[in-house]
Amino acid sequence: MNVRDLIDLGDFTLDDWHKILYLAEDIYQDPMRYSSALHGKILATLFYEPSTRTQMSFQAAMMRLGGQNIGFKNPSSSSISKGENLKDTIRIVSGYSDILVIRHPKEGSARAASLFSACPVINAGDGGHLHPTQTLTDLFTLRRVKGRLQNLRIGLCGDLKYGRTVHSLIRAMSRFPGNRFTLISTPELTLPDYLVKETGAQIERCDSLEACIGDLDVLYMTRIQQERFASKEEYARQKGVYILDAEKMRLAKPDLAVLHPLPRIDEIDRAVDDDPRAVYFRQAEYGMYVRMAIILLLVTEQPDGAVTLLPAREGEHCANPSCILEAEPYIGQKVLEEDGGPRRCAFCEHAL
Ligand code: NCD
Repeated sequence: MNVRDLIDLGDFTLDDWHKILYLAEDIYQDPMRYSSALHGKILATLFYEPSTRTQMSFQAAMMRLGGQNIGFKNPSSSSISKGENLKDTIRIVSGYSDILVIRHPKEGSARAASLFSACPVINAGDGGHLHPTQTLTDLFTLRRVKGRLQNLRIGLCGDLKYGRTVHSLIRAMSRFPGNRFTLISTPELTLPDYLVKETGAQIERCDSLEACIGDLDVLYMTRIQQERFASKEEYARQKGVYILDAEKMRLAKPDLAVLHPLPRIDEIDRAVDDDPRAVYFRQAEYGMYVRMAIILLLVTEQPDGAVTLLPAREGEHCANPSCILEAEPYIGQKVLEEDGGPRRCAFCEHAL
């Protein structure tokens, strides 16, 4: 692997993804073989947003590799509550650790953290933007339960606007041939435009689960991201629109795989949990092995490559209120390498 930080899977090659997935499979088959692989190393988890699975699976992963953990799961218990900025926190903590995991409510925060870190940084979710380690978990799950990552018809249901797991997954799965996507959401919560354009032609839209569930090989359910709505009323209008229940499962193929990054609120009826096509609890378990593989590769290989961020032109400024630059402007505007489209913020990817 050439790149030091796991911020966006697009920074890595397909070979790198396969390398992570093969190693994860190897660890899953025989975890004891790796039980002291990172003896003496320290992982720092900086969680500025709530988490159960992601933080605990990272910590368990490090412990199962023989390493140790430091960090916080609530910024109010750290110097951030005294007003410390992201740059200083990252600088300090990366000096104490060998690898750092960050989850933060602002989009682009993980990329920003990587600029200030002395050790590799892993993005564990940056606002409504990306969640690459969840996606590697999803790929690992699909490989295990479907036996392939290509020629799949994938339904994405729920909050496609703010759901960072969906954003990372659609990007990743569109790198494999023959995949087709069905977007199942209200018009208000559909996929952001830049992702639709990037993903290309293989997208259909459907406004009812009943109408399209029968065509799907994979159904990726998501919760409505309550915390990213401007008002409670707006959230209330979106809540409960799509609910997967036993009746709808009767319309689905016998080998459908239902995934969900969890937490589930009410979008999957608990009666579905016992259906063998429901793989979300296994998916959560697999996440730990995938994170063991990611940590092990980044700490032992020590790749030193970085993604090129271009300087902004005079007057170029990201107007996305959810971008990390809005909260921490001293970081300074940077721009992504030109891809033929509009110039985009190097942190949150919004068009400038
Ligand atoms: C997801 C997240 O945080 O984006 N959870 C997770 O990491 N498994 C999904 C969510 O919170 O809805």
